[in-house]
Amino acid sequence: MAEVTEAASKLSLGETVYIDEVGGSDDNSGVESSPLKTAIKALEKFGDNAKILVKKDDEGFKDISGAALKKAKKGLELQQKKLKKQQEQLEKQASQDKEKAEEHAKMLERAKAVVLKEDASLPKAEQIKIRDSVASRGKRVKVSGWVHRLRVQGKDMMFAVLRDGSGYLQCVLTGNLCHSYDAITLTIESTITVYGIIHPLPEGKTAPDNHELVVDYWELVGKAPEGEEAFNSKVSSEADPSYLLDNRHLVLRTETYASIFRARAKVIKAFRDHYESRGYTEVTPPCMVQTQVEGGSTLFEFNYYGENAYLTQSSQLYLETCLPALGDVFCLAESYRAEKSHTRRHLSEYSHLEAEMAFVSFDQFLERLEDMICDTIDRVWADAPTRELIEQLNPTFQPPSRPFMRMKYADAITYLKEHDIKKEDGSYYQFGEDIPEAPERAMTDQINRPIFLTHFPAHIKAFYMQRCPDDREVTESVDVLMPGVGEIVGGSMRMDNLDELVAAYKKEGIDPTPYYWYTDQRKYGTSPHGGYGLGVERFLAWLLNRYTVRDTSLYPRYPGRCAP
Ligand code: 4AD
Repeated sequence: MAEVTEAASKLSLGETVYIDEVGGSDDNSGVESSPLKTAIKALEKFGDNAKILVKKDDEGFKDISGAALKKAKKGLELQQKKLKKQQEQLEKQASQDKEKAEEHAKMLERAKAVVLKEDASLPKAEQIKIRDSVASRGKRVKVSGWVHRLRVQGKDMMFAVLRDGSGYLQCVLTGNLCHSYDAITLTIESTITVYGIIHPLPEGKTAPDNHELVVDYWELVGKAPEGEEAFNSKVSSEADPSYLLDNRHLVLRTETYASIFRARAKVIKAFRDHYESRGYTEVTPPCMVQTQVEGGSTLFEFNYYGENAYLTQSSQLYLETCLPALGDVFCLAESYRAEKSHTRRHLSEYSHLEAEMAFVSFDQFLERLEDMICDTIDRVWADAPTRELIEQLNPTFQPPSRPFMRMKYADAITYLKEHDIKKEDGSYYQFGEDIPEAPERAMTDQINRPIFLTHFPAHIKAFYMQRCPDDREVTESVDVLMPGVGEIVGGSMRMDNLDELVAAYKKEGIDPTPYYWYTDQRKYGTSPHGGYGLGVERFLAWLLNRYTVRDTSLYPRYPGRCAP
């Protein structure tokens, strides 16, 4: 049956063709039940001899009018002329491309014959890093690095901006230096070594450090791919974020990411300098542990020679054990959280800066924490190159003013109500409930300055937190909230009474056995003490104005990504 219909729907030359300018389509066959849309198509498909019938509103199909037929013939003629012209243009283009390709092939062949040689009569070049280029102006130097940018100007001039991790240097290659095979096929991200003299740029020209290396000889070290595999084809701002994370090893080479990780290194150094200046000792606690700190639900468990072990959530408990030996201590270690949260501030592995202080009151503890944050910022801000990096990434950044706002958890609950910040179900947060990320950030962004949020109810916080002497319902705890990011620090005074701690294990359902060493701190000379943990990626996201902590982690890990 289907075959009969198919045969009946086909027309041959000289037969009747049906047109319906409203309901037809030029992809149809042209029979009455499947009319074409235009008379031009009818002429093109079936020639002058076809009998063309056109659908009129009330009268059904009628012979095409003389005028309409003439118009259609003209239209077809024009269309054919246009097609012919297009065809000719395509052929011309193809022939030009072929000519160009042949010319290029010939040029490459000729280029192979150009062999560059270092002029032995020139002074010996001194190898330098780009950071030393200002001090090395005027003498012959040798610099190795990656081709960061490349601009070919005519046949006899090339500009390459070289990058070696210590800076950027514009290099100009002229004459024969641009004619070698390596020069003609040079690509972005290739590695080269250039020899020559660095000269200041004339007025009106710009380049990094306002100078350029005039190359007298150069060598290729390793060529990077071209075409589809070329660096710029892989690393583009339009690419999908997940694709860019697959290619993180290449993305790191871009100026923005290089600046982020250079700033990160400086910030970490400033943290260490702060602690050094305040008399803390740095320690390195283990990452493989058999105790939890922040609740069992976010533990990464693994088989440790047949025993259960975890990747640490926090080094806090170990830091506490160092107090009697070393006094105030800090560490910068990776912490691990098996949180299935795909938020912009959660990682499965993050750099955790933690400190612990002995013989402090809660007020002293808060002051020390504020001092640490502000002094670290002051240190990076006072260092001109670091300040430049921060200003480049976060142009409106200003160090926050002190003292930071202090707000009790109970007052935050009131704030949320007064500012109509509600739960998803439309009700208000009540005292005793955890304030999740979204309302916390909404409040912090409205207040738009750092907040020390204190005195959280005991039952929503970790087992080890010290309760307030005047209100046992709440703890001597603090979260530091920053605009744009939310919580960057969590800390508290620690329970220092043995019986209270033992009761806390019990309440939390924690077996105290593996915690014997932690419990011992309350046995062998207890002390009022407190500490905190700062998420380095979150701190950097705030300081450098990055949307997500994935941008401030070198190779971020989160659910679904553990590579590269
Ligand atoms: O508030 P948290 O869970 O506190 C502790 O781990 C304490 N034991 C620290 C201590 O007192 N020594 O975590 C502390 C900080 C958070 O404020 C946040 O900045 C960061 O660690 N953090 C995370 N950063 C990225 N991804 C995650 N999944 C994080 N979880 C916590």
